[in-house]
Amino acid sequence: MGLFTQIAHDHTVLRTVLGAVKAIAEKERQEEFKDQLPRIVDFFQMFMDEYHHHKEERFVFPLIEHASQEVRDLLPDLLGDHRRAKDLADSLASALQAGDLRRFGQVSVQLYDHMDEHISEEDQDVWPALKVSVPPKLAEAAFIDANNFFDRQLGTDFTARMELFEMYLKTRLEGG
Ligand SMILES: [Fe+2]
Ligand SMILES: [Fe+2]
Repeated sequence: MGLFTQIAHDHTVLRTVLGAVKAIAEKERQEEFKDQLPRIVDFFQMFMDEYHHHKEERFVFPLIEHASQEVRDLLPDLLGDHRRAKDLADSLASALQAGDLRRFGQVSVQLYDHMDEHISEEDQDVWPALKVSVPPKLAEAAFIDANNFFDRQLGTDFTARMELFEMYLKTRLEGG
């Protein structure tokens, strides 16, 4: 796996959990999934924000200097998207703490819509441009640095644990 393959993989994991959480909200199944709501909050605060967005900001966005001005101009918008996503994840935590499951559902849908747009922008307008403009050696170094960093910060089993949760939630939602 390389840097951009890993980012694409992160996006798949994010999209699966976002889709599951949106489906729970739309069918008003929050009460039924109450035992999983703290894990959902943890997933967005830790996997989406602390891991994925932090990885992009610290190790991937610096490589944007190799891309065209048009792509570089997207950076402030992408960073703003990350802040908004964190705010929404924190709102989910607040809704849960207040026991407001209706609010939890509303924020879930907002987070889904926000991240759907953000991930699509990155996948269509940012990563393809970086893949062709960043020297492969630099991408490889960023990949190694990022993985060493997050192994230290979050533990070597962090992504495996998050993916287990992704699979669990998806399976339970599908009635498996
Ligand atoms: Fe991002
Ligand atoms: Fe991303």
